[in-house]
Amino acid sequence: MTDPSYSAFIHTYPAYETTFSIDELRAWDYARLDASRQVYLDYTGAGLYAESQVHAHHKLLEEHVFGNPHSTNPTSQAATHLIESARASILKFFNADPQEYLVILTANASGALKLVGESYPFSSNSHYLLTFDNHNSVNGIREFAHRDGAQVTYIPVALPDMRVQDEHLLSALAQAKPGTHNLFAYPAQSNFSSVQHPLEWIELARSRGWDVVLDAAAFAPTNRLDLGRWKPDFVPISFYKIFGYPTGLGALIARRQALAKLHRPWFAGGTITVASVQGGKYYLAEGAAAFEDGTVDYLNIPAIEIGLKHIESIGIDKIHTRVVCLTGWLLDNLKKMHHSSGEALVRIYGPTTTDRHGGSVTLNFFDPHGMPIDHQFIEEAASRVNISLRTGCFCNPGAGEIALGISSMELAACFLQPGHQQRLSYDDFRLCIDGKASGAVRISVGLVSNFADVQAVLNFARSLVK
Ligand SMILES: Cc1ncc(COP(=O)(O)O)c(C=O)c1O
Repeated sequence: MTDPSYSAFIHTYPAYETTFSIDELRAWDYARLDASRQVYLDYTGAGLYAESQVHAHHKLLEEHVFGNPHSTNPTSQAATHLIESARASILKFFNADPQEYLVILTANASGALKLVGESYPFSSNSHYLLTFDNHNSVNGIREFAHRDGAQVTYIPVALPDMRVQDEHLLSALAQAKPGTHNLFAYPAQSNFSSVQHPLEWIELARSRGWDVVLDAAAFAPTNRLDLGRWKPDFVPISFYKIFGYPTGLGALIARRQALAKLHRPWFAGGTITVASVQGGKYYLAEGAAAFEDGTVDYLNIPAIEIGLKHIESIGIDKIHTRVVCLTGWLLDNLKKMHHSSGEALVRIYGPTTTDRHGGSVTLNFFDPHGMPIDHQFIEEAASRVNISLRTGCFCNPGAGEIALGISSMELAACFLQPGHQQRLSYDDFRLCIDGKASGAVRISVGLVSNFADVQAVLNFARSLVK
């Protein structure tokens, strides 16, 4: 007999039926997931790999001889060929014109962001603008901006939806400094609230004199990013978030024109055409090479192309549809849960519908008296029933502070306390904001999530209702 909740789910989200091929795929290519009875709900943390990806990569390594790239010998050429092929497949996946964009291979999205931060021509005349809602690896660029005397401005997000208000955005974008370099950075999808900030901002900002960093690390795994249509200057991504394997590889997809503005603060093996000891001079290589320090990860890079082909064989739109359906069901049901006292079981941070919303739901659980239940307690309890979810602030302190109502005054008081100038442990921080939740719980669905996964976490949530 069909589970009545499943029938209700399909009735509400009929598009889920168009994604059934993913259930078949999960059964044979991700068999370890059900065999080990793991309920994986941390896709914003990391995607999962298909077993076929690993086999294809291992087969490639077993059957070929690869040497250090960029020499003319045959084993080196074999490696170079696969690296160039990986770059081309990345551009193709994002529909980026190779005349306009190029791919710099990095260790992860953070590595891509650091390249922009350390090389961007900040000066005392320039401006770094970013949303409160940003990963720390985007926040960290402000330290390069500060070092060079640039102005740094944060645009707030507002509760309950945690979106940016138009007037705040427009007045901030009007502050580009003329005749100099201005950088604006925001996430296409928040890794905290899963809000999808408008891609229309890219053109809005560029037409007002900003270079745009579009952080696509959380967006790319379950949404189509079409660089034929949208033209950000810099796009950082991590591949393990899209297809799970390999880890340790990401990319900075950069507009060639914007890249020409960047200047590396050092040189290394591989990044120069000529460097001299006696002459005391060096000449940076052209294009991507100037940004890839030393020997690239040439044995793992071919696995990027294998991963991208895997996603293409499923279809990013199908993955997107599935994620929207599952997220919708999760939101609909969590919103309904109340204690007998009438208190809501959860408070959701961010939109409570799937409109411009990605595949994660971030929330805190509350007891029947309306007091927050510690997020670490929730993670431990979920782990006992094999549910992997993530708790904390997900390296997004700006969104976390807004969601949890932690004010700048409270933070200043905490950071200025004796002993807190140089070091502050997480426990000290919790003491500072005594009584408030210091983090949240993030449940995220992705590529091979299914109805049973979502029901498992809903059953877990129901077990907390008193
Ligand atoms: C939106 C966003 N940006 C950047 C990053 C940094 O990615 P990585 O840790 O792979 O460098 C993450 C990781 O969670 C993210 O979600």
